[in-house]
Amino acid sequence: MLFKKKINADVRELVKTSGLAHVAFIMDGNGRWASSRGLPREAGHRAGAKNFKTVMRYCRDIGIRYVTVYAFSTENWKRPESEVRALMRLLDSEIDVAKEENDVEYLFIGDKTAIESAIRARMDELENMTAARPFRLNIAFNYGGRAEIVHAVNSLVSEGAVSVTEDDISRALYTDGCPDPDIIVRTGAEFRLSNFLMWQSAYSELFFSDKMWPDFSKRDVDRVVEEFSRRKRRFGGL
Ligand code: IPE
Ligand code: IPE
Ligand code: MG
Repeated sequence: MLFKKKINADVRELVKTSGLAHVAFIMDGNGRWASSRGLPREAGHRAGAKNFKTVMRYCRDIGIRYVTVYAFSTENWKRPESEVRALMRLLDSEIDVAKEENDVEYLFIGDKTAIESAIRARMDELENMTAARPFRLNIAFNYGGRAEIVHAVNSLVSEGAVSVTEDDISRALYTDGCPDPDIIVRTGAEFRLSNFLMWQSAYSELFFSDKMWPDFSKRDVDRVVEEFSRRKRRFGGL
């Protein structure tokens, strides 16, 4: 217990000294986690949702201010209808659980218009009831990085813009008000971004884990923080 506490304090300190404000997770590997246990893929998504809460709370407790998670991509509609339906049901049930969470401000990033109206209303309700809390969680759902940029540019054009700046685009993205991710973590032993935060990731550090998402632990978060604190970010300078 004492040991566990000590690690936590050290990691909290590292979060502070390294300036780690925003961590984004590509929560990949739920399906393979389930298949390797002889379980249906949906069981993997349930295990993934459970682990998401553990990791998200831990990030909050060690002093990270912003977390973004990739939960459903604009390309995930290509999956069998039964799996898509299971993911929508899971989203719906997780909204109830989320309402009990303290200190967490929820924001869904992505195109909500394609989501069933009853669920969408509950997403809006969760966002409204948790506004302006100290820890911000962005849930990327029906999210695609390219679609987000197109949406941003179209909204600027509809406001009358004839040319746009980088700042204009940043402000028109779903992540407005949130610093770019300092580090993007992908689990599931795949080494790509899969259309996640295409604009915001320009200078993000990248961290890849061979673990399937349901197995990604608090200790693994500690490893991310430790690794981040060793990276030298130059942003093109010297
Ligand atoms: C990530 O896990 C969750 C979603 C994309 C919804 P996967 O479902 O992609 O799991 P694998 O990659 O097939 O194991
Ligand atoms: C990325 O995982 C999307 C989410 C984790 C929600 P995918 O499993 O959809 O990515 P690809 O298809 O392997 O690139
Ligand atoms: Mg996958």
